[in-house]
Amino acid sequence: MLYTIQNIKERFSIVSDDVEKYLKINKIKIDDKGRISEKSYLILLDLFSNQEKFENGNNNGKSETFLNGQKIQINQKPVYESQDQRISLFQDDAISFLKSLQPDSVDIIITDPAYSGMNQRLKLGRGKIIGKYADAGKDGAKWFEEFHDTKENYKSFLEQCYRVLRNNRHIYIMFDSYSLLSLAPIARNVFEVKNVLCWDKANIGLGHYFRRRHEFILFASKGKRHLNSRNIPDVWKIKRVSASKYPTQKPTEVFELMLKGSAEKDFVVCDPFVGSGSSAIAAIKSGCKFIGCDTSEKAISVSKERIKQFLKTKTDLYQKTSLLGDDEAITKLFLNGKSN
Ligand SMILES: C[S@@+](CC[C@H](N)C(=O)[O-])C[C@H]1O[C@@H](n2cnc3c(N)ncnc32)[C@H](O)[C@@H]1O
Repeated sequence: MLYTIQNIKERFSIVSDDVEKYLKINKIKIDDKGRISEKSYLILLDLFSNQEKFENGNNNGKSETFLNGQKIQINQKPVYESQDQRISLFQDDAISFLKSLQPDSVDIIITDPAYSGMNQRLKLGRGKIIGKYADAGKDGAKWFEEFHDTKENYKSFLEQCYRVLRNNRHIYIMFDSYSLLSLAPIARNVFEVKNVLCWDKANIGLGHYFRRRHEFILFASKGKRHLNSRNIPDVWKIKRVSASKYPTQKPTEVFELMLKGSAEKDFVVCDPFVGSGSSAIAAIKSGCKFIGCDTSEKAISVSKERIKQFLKTKTDLYQKTSLLGDDEAITKLFLNGKSN
């Protein structure tokens, strides 16, 4: 009997490229129809099963994660899972976390990565753009680690996003002005980029050349999907979180608007850079499931606490009031509870 790469892919939920790489490293012959012998299949099975880590997680087949009955994760246990199993959090690197998800397992990606480009290149006086670098975190480190945003790394991140996103679904990725020009164009090679939205923070912040008042949100799709409404403008006036408890904490309304545009009840929402958990709160408010990840222990503990409290009491520990600006069209979307 012969086994195909497809067999292996399904058995271990890994992408064909990885299987092929693995076969090559282990000098296992594939015939011209992509098949291997049973003996080779068993060797592979053994290798995968006994290997403590394949790419990033413990792939012993025993630690699958189910999001409310739906198998989504194959090789690591969540650091937090809500009682109803609709919300789970992982502490991991974004790419490694995405690699551990089943293909076509999430319905929407809404995320705000920790880009390093802006901080590293655009200096503000003696400090840098984001965060109190000198006095925060352990041993005088930065507030949080930044995602190493080389073009190769970013491409790999996007490809993993594409792999885990179901077909005919949307992705929203936040960008500062620096990363928008350097990294966002790469998204065109992976997704169908539909628009670049603007989050207008209503009040000015820091900035050397013009005071910053906005961020960008790249909106793209895998396959075809209409927005839930034709009435959502592409500039979103929502105030920033003042005196936030987590650096770069975003208003939940920014993520809620993404979900108003593209989600349905029970959609699996994914955020690989979860931070304080604003996207998770938005997902709960929108009747969705949520799977998120962050490298930082602090982010995980903050978002876990925030989610638990919100599920229990419907109060948001980290954003006590609405941050909607004075934009009639946007306010209307929230008043109606619907987007059309
Ligand atoms: C801009 S913040 C997200 C803020 C979040 N949207 C909120 O509203 O609180 C980016 C997050 O990415 C995390 N991070 C940095 N490098 C990462 C990586 N390689 N993988 C996953 N998370 C990472 C940081 O710890 C930080 O919490």
